[in-house]
Amino acid sequence: MKTTKVVLTSRPEGSVQESDMSLIDEELAPLEPGEVLLEIEHLSVDAFIRTTFDEGAFHGTAGIGQPIMALGTARVLSSQFEGLNQGDAVFGPMGAQTHAKLPGVMLQKLEEKELPARSYLGVLGLATGMTAYAGMTRVAEVQEGNTVVVSAAAGAVGSCACQVAKNLGARVIGIAGGAAKVDYLLNEIGCDAAVDYKAPDLEGQLLAAAPDGIDVFFDNVGGAILDAVLLQINERARVVICGAVSQYERTGSVYGPTNYLKIPERNASMLGFTVMRFHEEYAEIQESITEWVLAGKFKLPEQIESGIDQFPRALTMLFSGGHMGKLMVAP
Ligand SMILES: NC(=O)c1ccc[n+]([C@@H]2O[C@H](COP(=O)([O-])OP(=O)(O)OC[C@H]3O[C@@H](n4cnc5c(N)ncnc54)[C@H](OP(=O)(O)O)[C@@H]3O)[C@@H](O)[C@H]2O)c1
Repeated sequence: MKTTKVVLTSRPEGSVQESDMSLIDEELAPLEPGEVLLEIEHLSVDAFIRTTFDEGAFHGTAGIGQPIMALGTARVLSSQFEGLNQGDAVFGPMGAQTHAKLPGVMLQKLEEKELPARSYLGVLGLATGMTAYAGMTRVAEVQEGNTVVVSAAAGAVGSCACQVAKNLGARVIGIAGGAAKVDYLLNEIGCDAAVDYKAPDLEGQLLAAAPDGIDVFFDNVGGAILDAVLLQINERARVVICGAVSQYERTGSVYGPTNYLKIPERNASMLGFTVMRFHEEYAEIQESITEWVLAGKFKLPEQIESGIDQFPRALTMLFSGGHMGKLMVAP
């Protein structure tokens, strides 16, 4: 069996380019005891993948010529692992490729009764829906009636975070780039207001959308957007740092918030988190999101690009903003 995989060919300086990656074909060796042969169905395109292109990255560093890390869902073609059989759907660290041969212990068997398997990359996904849910409920502790602002709101984590906050009874304002995304936030995701950070006067737009101030900021972007929101936080606001996608392609040090003194002035807090902190609650979190989806209270926002050759372009899209909802590649 042959696999086509995406490998890193050069370390990007600043913006990641499609030319930093290339495709190679490789023959997979026969299965060993405990291993499973997989046909990959969906790959998750995540911001953390870009960070693995740098030396000393938090999630590990990809070597030059080495396959690119990616989480995904797959179908079992054959198995030498007790507990997994041909036809089962699984989730795991597939790598950006069409087929894989992995130890069965690295895979999670998926339930497909209620939601499709790819939901485990999107609304039920660790780096998407679960991150949004944990951040909003456990870290921001959103209360009914709170005014909640979400950055990169039309993206994967952001579109889920907006929906979690709506379901908790908050008034939700999404920040995204461009008129099409503002329209998407208002008409598809159910935001009460939306702000276009690429249009002039971000501070004025925020003030118009949240005239009584901001109780929770769920930040995926950092940089200038974080600074603008800090100016308008309320007493006891919670600023939750989920990520800082505007900073991942910077060379050298990141741009920190210059308006951070609003935190003590407003008796506010700024808290960061990784979803891994909530590993004991994963099953409970997935159950809560599934209930909302089945009750029609939570959409499955996703965009799927077809073909493994589209993976490099999809990864650059995360930083140029060309997608809405959870971005995946179906190899
Ligand atoms: N804490 C955790 O455990 C955890 C887990 C998973 C992900 N995350 C974080 O969650 C964030 C979102 O990740 P995701 O996978 O869901 O990606 P995503 O939101 O689907 O894609 C990234 C979005 O960020 C926006 N963006 C990119 N560069 C920007 C810039 N310079 N300024 C403003 N906006 C910019 C783009 O939207 P626009 O078109 O609107 O610009 C793009 O669509 C990332 O920061 C990631 O690191 C954290």
